[in-house]
Amino acid sequence: MESFTGWRCFFLALFLAFSAARGQLSTTFYANTCPGLSQIVRDNMTTAIAKDRRMGASILRLHFHDCFVLGCDASILLDDVGGVVGEKSAIPNVNSVRGYEVIDTIKASVESSCPGVVSCADILTLAARDGTFLLGGPSWDVALGRRDATTPASPNVALQNLPPFFASVGELITAFGNKGLTPRDMTALSGAHTVGSAQCMNFRDHIWKETNIDVSFANLRRSTCPATAPNGDGNLAPFDVQTELVFDNGYYKNLAVRKGLLHSDQELYNGGGPQSQAALVNQYSNNNKLFFDDFVVAMKKMGSIGTLTGNAGQIRRNCRLVNP
Ligand code: HEM
Ligand SMILES: *[C@@H]1O[C@H](CO)[C@@H](O)[C@H](O)[C@H]1NC(C)=O
Repeated sequence: MESFTGWRCFFLALFLAFSAARGQLSTTFYANTCPGLSQIVRDNMTTAIAKDRRMGASILRLHFHDCFVLGCDASILLDDVGGVVGEKSAIPNVNSVRGYEVIDTIKASVESSCPGVVSCADILTLAARDGTFLLGGPSWDVALGRRDATTPASPNVALQNLPPFFASVGELITAFGNKGLTPRDMTALSGAHTVGSAQCMNFRDHIWKETNIDVSFANLRRSTCPATAPNGDGNLAPFDVQTELVFDNGYYKNLAVRKGLLHSDQELYNGGGPQSQAALVNQYSNNNKLFFDDFVVAMKKMGSIGTLTGNAGQIRRNCRLVNP
C-alpha cells in the first residue's frame, strides 16, 4: 500500500513536471502546491467589491490591458523603477487603470499560504473572473500556470497594442485579430463595458460632435462633460446608463438605441456596412445567455494570449517588482 502510494505520487509528479514543461495551462495547476488559491482570490475580491463595487470592473479591465500588451504576464503590474518607464505610464493606463493595490493584497494573502509558487499573472486572471462573477456575470474555470514577465513593455508598445476609444469598427477588428481574437470575440468582450465608468476626455467628442448618438442621452452626458478640454476632463460617467455596476447585456441594449458611451462602443452598431457587428449586437441584446456563453469563450482565449509557461519568466514575489 505504502509503495503503491509512493509510485502513484512519483508518476503524478512526473506527469505534472511534463505538463508544466510542455507549457500548457491547466485548471489543476496549483492543486497540490496551492489548493486554497481560488478561495483566497474569491474572498479578497468579495472584500474589495464590498468596499468599492466598481473595483470588479477595474480589475477586469486591468486583466485586458495586461493580456493585450506582451500577453497575460502581469507586465502591467511592474512599477517604473531604476529609470525604466513601463506600461503603467502608457497613455491608456496612466490615471485610468486602477486596482493595483487589490492585486497586492491578494498576492500577500496567497504568498502567506503558498510562498513563491503562484504567479501574479494567474492571480490577476482569477481576480478578473471573480470580478465579473461578483457583479452578476458568468463564471468559468480558469486554466492556470502563467508565469510573470521580468520586464514591462514600453509606453509606446502598450499604446500601439491597446485599441483607442476613437477606433472604427474595422480598427477594432484588426486590433483584436492581431491577438488571435475573432470579430465575434471582440464584440462579446466589448460587453465588459456593461460595468464601470469612463472619463469625459474619452467620450467628449462622441457626445458633442457626433451624430450616431441618441439626442437625450447626449444631453444627459453633456451635463457633466463640458465641450471644451480640459474642463471636466476627469469627470466620470457610467458606461451603462441603466445598470451601472451589474454585469448583464445592458451594453448591447444601449447600443441598439444609440446610447453607447464611447465612439468605439457605438461603432459596433453603426448603421450597417460590411464590417457591421449590428446583427450580433441585436442577438446579444435579446439573449443574455448567448452573450454570457460567448463572453466566457472569448475571456478564456484572451486569458491565454502570449502566456509565459514552463521555465520562462519567473514567479514574482512582489507583483510590482522583478525578483532581486
Ligand atoms: C474594444 C476596444 C476597447 C476600447 C476602445 C476600450 C476603451 C476603454 C476606455 C477609454 C475606458 C475608460 C477609461 C477611462 O476613462 O479612464 C474603458 C474602461 C473599461 N474597459 Fe474598455 N475598452 C475596450 C475593450 C475592453 C475589453 C475587451 C474589456 C474587458 C474584457 C474592457 C473592460 C473595461 C472596463 C470594465 C472598463 C471600466 C473600468 C473602470 O470603471 O475602472 N474594455 N475602456
Ligand atoms: C484574503 O483572503 C484570506 C483567505 O480567505 C483572508 O484570510 C484575508 O483576511 C483576506 N483579506 C482580505 C483583505 O479580504
